[in-house]
Formats: sequence, C-alpha cells, structure tokens
Amino acid sequence: MRKQIAAANWKMNLTISQAEKLVNDLLATAHEVKENQQVLLAVPFPYLSQVEKLLAGKNGVAVAAQNCSNKLSGAYTGEVSVEMLSSLNINYVIIGHSERREYFNESNQLLAEKINMALQNNITPVFCCGEALEIRESEKQNEFVGKQLNESLYHLTPDQLKKVVIAYEPIWAIGTGKTASSEQAQEMHAFIRSELSNKYGVETANEISILYGGSVKGANAKEIFSQPDVDGGLVGGASLNAGEFNTIINSLK
Ligand code: 13P
Repeated sequence: MRKQIAAANWKMNLTISQAEKLVNDLLATAHEVKENQQVLLAVPFPYLSQVEKLLAGKNGVAVAAQNCSNKLSGAYTGEVSVEMLSSLNINYVIIGHSERREYFNESNQLLAEKINMALQNNITPVFCCGEALEIRESEKQNEFVGKQLNESLYHLTPDQLKKVVIAYEPIWAIGTGKTASSEQAQEMHAFIRSELSNKYGVETANEISILYGGSVKGANAKEIFSQPDVDGGLVGGASLNAGEFNTIINSLK
C-alpha cells in the first residue's frame, strides 16, 4: 500500500539554532506516525547530520536533502553528491523543485540524470512537477505535466518507478497563499496516476505516492489530503511552524 507522506521543505530558511528549536518543538508535540505514514524533513545541506541526530529513534520521521548533483564525484565545486547523502544515511532527496527549475535552469533531461543517481544509491527521489499560471490559464497543464513525467521518469523500469515519490506543485500556488482547490488537486493527481497507469500498468501506478504542494497549511490540509489520489503534501512556509506542521501531519489519511 502506498505511503501517506507529510514532507517539510524548509528551503533556504533558518539558522542552525532555529532549526534545532523547530525540530525539538515538533518532537515535543508530535503524535505517533502511523505504519502507513511517513514524515520527511527536507533541510538545508549543512543541517542534515544534526537534524538526523535529533530525530534518532523517532519512527516514521526521516531527513531529506533538497537537491543533489547529477554527477557522482569530482571537480564540481559547491555540488553535493548522492554518495555523500548516502554516507550520512539520508534516504530521500527532493528533485526538480520548480525553484531549481526556474532559478538554476534545471531541465527535464538533467532531472532524469539526478533521478538515476538517487535510485542507483538507494535514495528515494521526491520528484516535483507542476505548471505555471499561464499554462493553467491556457488549459495546457495536463500536457505540460505529462511532458515533465515523460522526460524525467519514463526511462525507468516499473521496479525503479515504484521507488519514486511524485509531488505535484502548481507554481501559481507556491508561497502565494492561493492553494489549488481540492477538486483541482484531485483532478491533476488522477491524471498523473492515469498516465503512470497507461505506461506502467494500474498495479504500479497505485503504488506511487503523489503529494500535493502549494500553500498547504493546517487549515486546508485535511480537505486536500482527503482526496483519493492525494497521498499527502510537500509543505514550504507552514512547515517552519511546529504547530502548523503537526496539524498537517495529523491530517494525513
Ligand atoms: P509553500 O507551502 O510555501 O507554498 O511552498 C510549497 C513548496 O514549494 C514546497 O516544496
């Protein structure tokens, strides 16, 4: 059965002392994470080890990286490889966030390479996709997201694909306070699952967790997560507040 996932994406926020406080506050108020659920904290690279230490022994909560290199090692100043992540026991990495696509020119082809790198090192990629406002307004969102999936994921075997988590994050809903309605989210998630099903069969498609991201907060998480094809959320701003993020975790199916 696919996992229901609440993933925090801290982005480039918090000092180490603020980060430690947030994790401690989260742990102090957190409920049990159920067997079918997973909580992820995607923290800035320098904090990976420290946050992992703070979470030690906490079932169902794992640390994730926000990015990785498409190269294995070598003269790539400033990059972080999947081997480095593995050596820190990091098992999840966000790949293809729209901010990386936009500000760092990450293409679907480059992201396919990063996906391969992660999977070859037994790291679960959380692959982000989603359209900008102009594309939504011209009703081309399915075509656009379909192309992102096609160019970054469809070279994978079914067994490899089953290890990928997908996050649908419409760019117009990121950090804007404007969430997709639960109907819009369900419609896109059902489309993504049907595309996966066409390519890999229904059994494989049903095993993939598809998260929604874009202005998820305590007040709207339950409604969005209740949709049949929404398997949790990838959360930016609201994940920086322990109380909000705990409400989001408690809204998982
Ligand atoms: P917000 O939750 O701040 O809209 O950010 C969403 C996001 O980009 C998570 O990756």
